[in-house]
Order: sequence, then structure tokens, then C-alpha cells
Amino acid sequence: MKRLTLLALALAAGAVTAAPKADLAKGKEIATNICAACHAADGNSGIAMYPKLSAQNAHYLFVQTKAIKEGKRTTGASAAMAPMVAALSDQDMRDVAAFYAKQTPKQGEANPKDNPELGAKIFRGGLADKKIPACMACHGPNGAGMPGGGTDITAYPRLGGQHKDYIITQMQAYKSGQRTNTIMADIAGRMSDEELNAVANFIQGLH
Ligand code: HEC
Ligand code: HEC
Repeated sequence: MKRLTLLALALAAGAVTAAPKADLAKGKEIATNICAACHAADGNSGIAMYPKLSAQNAHYLFVQTKAIKEGKRTTGASAAMAPMVAALSDQDMRDVAAFYAKQTPKQGEANPKDNPELGAKIFRGGLADKKIPACMACHGPNGAGMPGGGTDITAYPRLGGQHKDYIITQMQAYKSGQRTNTIMADIAGRMSDEELNAVANFIQGLH
């Protein structure tokens, strides 16, 4: 009886939702104690091999953290991260994902000597003759990403301001099949090294 009353009150207050709730304070604690060593406390890592996590889509962050924990994503130095997150529960990973998703991204810069014109062209309009679509169609005009709508797509991740070298590593991983995603494998597979380099440079300065 008492439980029913509480449930009724919670429903009336709109407090019951389908999505699991994230504890931001707990997320901050985990970020400071574990992730900060590589990704920085606010997610704005200054080292190219450690991706920036600030303002990234929370669900994407959760899915990737879990994939690295479970050894399902083995790109780059993922193996170095796996033991650091081995003890985290799903709830812990949701909490820390929610925390990083709320951090303010720090702007990056494109190298003006590294063909940002070609990079901008690819990002905004694609290359029709090579059937390369515009990156912004899914990753947003400012590279801020978009929540995924479909069941097999968790989110179109944020790219803006991300380290150029990290972007190139991931595109090569999609190309080689080391990281599996049908959409990105198809796109990366059509791109030359020069095009990859130019678009990654442009993305690093995008905000
Ligand atoms: C020992 C260093 C290290 C620590 C500590 C670490 N990571 Fe990572 N993390 C990495 C590296 C390296 C990569 C990039 C792997 C690659 O190149 O694919 C990464 C990638 C990620 C990604 C994928 C990002 C993307 O854009 O796809 C997420 C999410 C992530 N880490 C979350 C976390 C969280 C949350 C913590 C703390 C609980 C954490 N990491 C702790 C090194 C670390
Ligand atoms: C049709 C939609 C779509 C288009 C167009 C698209 N992407 Fe993606 N992209 C995705 C999805 C979905 C993911 C997440 C894949 C995953 O879970 O591994 C992704 C992931 C990525 C990642 C990995 C991000 C990270 O943090 O690790 C990079 C880098 C990337 N895309 C670059 C590009 C570039 C560059 C272009 C344009 C040449 C582009 N994408 C065009 C859908 C798209």
C-alpha cells in the first residue's frame, strides 16, 4: 500500500522515466580518479592519442567505454584503458558518461598549411564523384554530433575539435575493419590518405 502511494507520487511528479538515471557527482568522482590521467578531468585531453570526451553524446560515451572494457574495441591504445575501467559497473559508466557529456569543449585549431579547404569541402559537401557523403549530414554542421535514431546506431558522435591524429587512426580502423561500423567503413574505404588527412585537419579546428 505504502509502495503504491510512493509510486503514484513519483509518477505524478514525472520522476519515473524509462532511461536509467545518471549520478553526475559520482560521474565526476570516477572521471577525476580514473579517466583524468589520460582524458583530462574536463575531457579536453591535450594529447592526440587520447580522444577528447567533453560534450560527446552520453550514450555514445557509454557504449564505447563498455566496448573497451569488454575487449570489443581494440583500436589504438584501448588495451591500456581496459584494465583501468575493468571494475566499473554499467551504472558507473553511465554516470561518468553523463558527466563528460556535460563538460565544455575546448576549441582546437586546424593547420592552415594542411589543406583545410579540401577538408571543409569534404566535411560540408562530400565528394560526389567518389560517392563520399558530406560528414556534416550525420555529424552536424559544427561537428557537434546528433543522437542516433535507429536501433543499430547509438549516436552520430561529436567530432568538432577532436585531435587530428585520433580521427585519422579511427578512419583507418574503419577502413581495415578493426573497428566495425558499416556506414563508416564504406565512407573511409572510399577516401585517399590525402583526403583523410585534410578532413581530419579541418575537423580539429571545427567548432
Ligand atoms: C591509460 C589511459 C586511459 C585511461 C585511464 C582511460 N582511457 Fe579512455 N581511452 C584511452 C585511449 C588511448 C583511447 C583511444 C583508443 C583508440 O585509439 O581507439 C580511449 C578512448 C576512450 C573512449 C572512446 C572515445 C571515442 O570518441 O570513441 C571513451 C568513451 C573513453 N576512452 C572513456 C574513458 C573513461 C570514461 C575513462 C575513465 C573511467 C577512461 N576512458 C580512462 C586511454 C585511457
Ligand atoms: C550516414 C551517416 C554518417 C556520415 C555521412 C559520416 N559519418 Fe562518421 N560516424 C557515423 C556513425 C554512426 C559513427 C559511429 C560509429 C561507431 O559506433 O563506431 C561515426 C563515427 C565516426 C568517427 C569516430 C568518432 C570517434 O570519436 O571515435 C569518425 C572519426 C567519423 N565518423 C568521421 C567521419 C567523417 C570524416 C565523415 C565524412 C567524410 C563522416 N564521418 C561521415 C555516421 C556517419
